[in-house]
Amino acid sequence: GANPASLGRQIGFTSVPMAAQDTVTVPPGYTARVLFRWGDPVGVPGQMPAFRPDGGNSAADQALQGGMHHDGMAWFSLDGARRGLLTMNHEYTDDGLLHADGMDNWSAEKVRKSIAAHGVSVIEVERQADGRVTQVLPSRYARRITAATPCVVQGPAAGHALMRTAADPSGRNVLGTLNNCANGYTPWGTYLTCEENFANYFEGAEKPDAHHARWGIKKGGGFYRWHEFEERFDAVRHPNESNRFGWVVEIDPQNPDAAPIKRTAMGRAAHEGAAVALTAEGHAVVYMGEDARFEYIYKFVSRDKMQPGGAAANRELLDHGTLFVGRFDVDGTGAWLPLVHGQGPLTVANGFADQAEVLIKARQASDLLGGTKMDRPEWTTIDPITKTVYCTLTNNSDRGKPGRPYMDAANPRANNTMGQIIRWQEKGDLNAATFTWDHLVLAGDPSLSREGAKGNIRGDVFGSPDGLWVDPRGVLWIQTDVSTSTLGKNDYVNLPNNQMLACDPTVGEIRRFLVGPAGCELTGITMTSDLRALFVNIQHPGESPTERSDPRQPMKISSWPDRAGRPRSATLVITRDDGGIIGT
Ligand code: FEO
Ligand code: CA
Ligand code: CA
Ligand code: CA
Repeated sequence: GANPASLGRQIGFTSVPMAAQDTVTVPPGYTARVLFRWGDPVGVPGQMPAFRPDGGNSAADQALQGGMHHDGMAWFSLDGARRGLLTMNHEYTDDGLLHADGMDNWSAEKVRKSIAAHGVSVIEVERQADGRVTQVLPSRYARRITAATPCVVQGPAAGHALMRTAADPSGRNVLGTLNNCANGYTPWGTYLTCEENFANYFEGAEKPDAHHARWGIKKGGGFYRWHEFEERFDAVRHPNESNRFGWVVEIDPQNPDAAPIKRTAMGRAAHEGAAVALTAEGHAVVYMGEDARFEYIYKFVSRDKMQPGGAAANRELLDHGTLFVGRFDVDGTGAWLPLVHGQGPLTVANGFADQAEVLIKARQASDLLGGTKMDRPEWTTIDPITKTVYCTLTNNSDRGKPGRPYMDAANPRANNTMGQIIRWQEKGDLNAATFTWDHLVLAGDPSLSREGAKGNIRGDVFGSPDGLWVDPRGVLWIQTDVSTSTLGKNDYVNLPNNQMLACDPTVGEIRRFLVGPAGCELTGITMTSDLRALFVNIQHPGESPTERSDPRQPMKISSWPDRAGRPRSATLVITRDDGGIIGT
C-alpha cells in the first residue's frame, strides 16, 4: 500500500461535544463497536468458558478469558490489514467486581482469580466482507499471560543476588507480570508490556529499609491482599520478590509457547510505556516514562543493531545497551545521563555493587545523577516522520507544595492538576546525548478562574493526558485519565468524563474524537496497518471514586457496555461508515 506518511496529518472529523454519559460517542460518520470485554474467552481451542455476569467464573475460567482493566495494546498483522493479532494489557483488578460476593470471605481462590485477571491477552481478529472487525474463535494464537505465568529474566540483573528468592534461587525465573500499564512494540515484531505500580502488591515492613522505602514497599502497602495467601508477596519474608517486578517484558505474540522475557538492561521503574524506534544504523532506542510524582524519563540505546529475521533474530537485542535518565534544562536543551556502574556517582562507595544493582535501583541512581523530577511521566511516543518524541506528564498536585520539589522549566505549574505534553528532538540521531525540548501544550480549561489551570490548548479542552500515540500518518492521539474522584469537580467542572482527542502536532490544533462512558479512562490505542480500523480500550467504566465496587449495591455509575449488571472494561473497534482512513 501507499506510504502512510504521504497521506498527510490533516484532521477531518467533526469535534464531539463533552458530556456526562454512560455511552461511547464518536464523530458523525464513525461507528464504535465492542470487540473484546473482560471475561470474554480469548479463544484457546477447546477452552472457551463463557462469562458469568454474576462474577461466578472460577480462577481457572478467568485464566482463559480477557483480564480486567484493559490498558496498552498493539496490532500485529498476520495477513495485511485483513487479519492480525491484538495484544493487550490488563492492568489491575477491582476485586469488588471480580468475584460474586466481592471481597467478602477473602480466600486463596479469590487471590488466584485476581492473579489470573492480570497480565496480557493475545487475541486474533479479522475483517469480515461487510467491513466489520470481529474476534477469531478459536485461534491457535490465543493466549493469556497472567501474574502466575512463568517468565524468564534476561540482561545484566538476571541471576543477581538481589533477584534470588527462596522459590527461585537462580534469580532467573519469575512467576508472572503485573500492573501491565502502557506498552510498546518493536520493529522486529514483538510486544512490550510494562510493569507499573508493582509496589501495591507487596506487604512490607513497619520500618522498611532504604531500598524498599524508595520504591514504596511498606506496611499496609499490599492493596490487592495477595500476600494473605501467596507468600511471595509478603515483602518482609521475601524481600527480593519485589525486585523481580518493575521491568519491561518482551512477548512474541506469534509464538504462544514462548515465555515472556523481563529485559533488565532497560532498567527497573514503575514503567508506564516503552516507545521503540531505530537509528539510521539500526540500533534500537526505547523511551520510557516512570509514572509517579517526581520520577523520571528514561532512554535505552541498544549495543547491537537489529538483524533481519524478526523476533528469532533479535532475541537478545534488548539485553545489551545503555540506559539514560533525562535532564531537562531551563534553556530548552537537555541531556541523557548514563546509568553505568563506575561512572560518576554510581560507585561501590555509593551503594552500587555492580551494573545489576544500578538497574535494580534505577531510582536511586537517577537521584544521584540529577535527572529531572517530572510531573508523572505516562506514555511516550515517537513521530515516525520527524522523530520528535512526545511524553504525557499527566498531573502532579504536589508540585510546589512545602517540602516537595519546586517548579522547573519542564514542570512549570504549582498544584498541577491538568498536566502537560512535553516533546523533544534529539541533537542528531535518536542515540544522541543531548536534545532540545519544549511543551506541545499545557492542558487546561481557559474558562476556569484559576490561572494555573487555564492551560494554552488550541482547540478542545482536556486535562490529565495519559495515553499517547502518533499514528503512522503523523496524527497525535491523546487519551485522558482524570481520576474518578476529580471528574466533573473543581478544575474538571466542565469535564465530567474521560475522552480521546487528535492533534496535528505541526499546527497544534487539538480536536475531541471520543467521549467515554461514566467513570472510565481511555487507554490503549492501535490501528490496523491500513489505518481503516482503530482499536481503543475503555478501562474501568463505572469506577467508584473512593473504593472497590460492592456487588451488594446496584451498579449505580455505569453498566457499560452490557446495559445491565457489572460494568466491564472492553476493547472498541472504530471504523468509518464509508470505510475511509480514520481521522482524515
Ligand atoms: Fe497505569 Fe500511569 O497509568
Ligand atoms: Ca496510564
Ligand atoms: Ca493515569
Ligand atoms: Ca487507570
